[in-house]
Amino acid sequence: MRLVITKSDEESARLAAGCIAEVVNEKRDSLLGFATGSTPEPVYAQLVAMCARGEVDFSGVRTVNLDEYVGLNAEDPHSYMYYMRKNLFDKAGIDLSRVTIPRGDADPEEEVRRLNAFSDKNNIDIQLLGVGVNGHIGFNEPCDCFYNKYHIVTLTEKTKKSNSRMFSRMEDVPERAITMGVGDIMRAKRIVFLANGIEKLDAMKAILEPRDVTPRIQGTILKFHQDCKIIIDKVLAELINPAPEVEVSYT
Ligand code: F6R
Repeated sequence: MRLVITKSDEESARLAAGCIAEVVNEKRDSLLGFATGSTPEPVYAQLVAMCARGEVDFSGVRTVNLDEYVGLNAEDPHSYMYYMRKNLFDKAGIDLSRVTIPRGDADPEEEVRRLNAFSDKNNIDIQLLGVGVNGHIGFNEPCDCFYNKYHIVTLTEKTKKSNSRMFSRMEDVPERAITMGVGDIMRAKRIVFLANGIEKLDAMKAILEPRDVTPRIQGTILKFHQDCKIIIDKVLAELINPAPEVEVSYT
């Protein structure tokens, strides 16, 4: 794992966007793995700006998303499809025929089969990741095992509470989601992982410090990824003592 410590969250987003653009500029038809939530929003804003300046062209890429809430259709403003269209796809000219996102309103079991047929045939060139307060990546919640493939997950109370900030009421937060498994996340050729804010400290300590890899904190599996760049700002970094094998650099 490589850890890049930046001066600000804005700089972290710029750096992450640069990593994605570099991959696209090397390979026009890259498969890009995307995440949603507050953390990647400024990354998408940077990518849209780079696209407008002609620094990157997304017309040849394909994309795949980590997760979606079960029960929400693509027009629902809380759905991750809506989020991706608003933040990136519609602004960066990414045609929806090139996009793979779990369909929240489809039969969940059939949807899992469709997504796994896709992931069996395709390898992600770069995966953007954030982390939940409980250490989840995608919606891989703390449990007794690591899931390999897309699957249906029941969200924990902690995740529902954290994500309720996006909904009007806690009761509106869906109970279940479809998520890519950590196996498929780990098969991405490159990972760029961002974490912002003190509420992510426990998760980031578990991931970066010399601690066990455990499915109770799913993000700890990233210790085993061959090309994972973690980007955090100096405020968070000051509170973490990375393991000796983590290669640390500063911007
Ligand atoms: C969403 C996803 C989640 C989020 C995580 C952090 O697609 O993969 O793992 O990255 O819940 O969310 P924020 O960035 O909103 O704190």
